[in-house]
Amino acid sequence: MGTSLYEPINVYKPVAPALGIVDGPFEYLTIASVTLPLPFTTRMTVARLSNGDLFLHSPIKFHAKLAEELQTLGTIRHLVSPNQFHYAHIGEWSKAYPDAITWASPRVRQRARARNIDVEFARDLHDAPPEEWRDEIDQTLFPGGYFKEFIFFHGSSRTLILTDTIINIELGKISEPWRTATRLTGMYYPHGQIFFGMRLPLLLRRQKRMEAIRKIRSWQPQRIILSHGRCFDADADEVIERIFR
Ligand SMILES: [Fe+2]
Repeated sequence: MGTSLYEPINVYKPVAPALGIVDGPFEYLTIASVTLPLPFTTRMTVARLSNGDLFLHSPIKFHAKLAEELQTLGTIRHLVSPNQFHYAHIGEWSKAYPDAITWASPRVRQRARARNIDVEFARDLHDAPPEEWRDEIDQTLFPGGYFKEFIFFHGSSRTLILTDTIINIELGKISEPWRTATRLTGMYYPHGQIFFGMRLPLLLRRQKRMEAIRKIRSWQPQRIILSHGRCFDADADEVIERIFR
């Protein structure tokens, strides 16, 4: 196979009170209708709001047993696409839970349409969090040009929730030639790095970049959850200073 999963998959793993992750099965990147042979892992974050609603960040492939498990924790309510690359399974969850609200990231509707992915988005994310979760989760749009994404901060656990902004692949979990390719990008454990596609847009958008970084610093996160690779379970401030300085 060449790549290892974050076993066990499709089960809720608590990381703090009211916050957990679910590691998913392999995903494959498709570029111009060609599916690349590299499988990669992805991860969903689940926050339980104080009213019992669940916030599902970047939902992984729908899995009935997982859905049942999540329903024991709360009501599956918010299905969130943080960027235009993480949305493909929202339609599956939405079909199973039609009362859930689907939240769109910039350009995600166009992307889904172009790829014939069956999903309807009811609401749009904005720079300020909606009243549904603003008392518990803050957010800001991180300016990565084409790769821009909404990043979130879960207040009670002081956790930053990122999708592709930082990637931290464990080289031991992938085989050649991908291992060497990943090494060249610098986006690997233990240091991680900003996703390479975002770096030029970030350089060009100094003002927006500084505003976003100021906001991230003001949150004083202690932990960072990532969608790809290993999370940073502690010392988030050091990681942020090193990567965003
Ligand atoms: Fe991604």
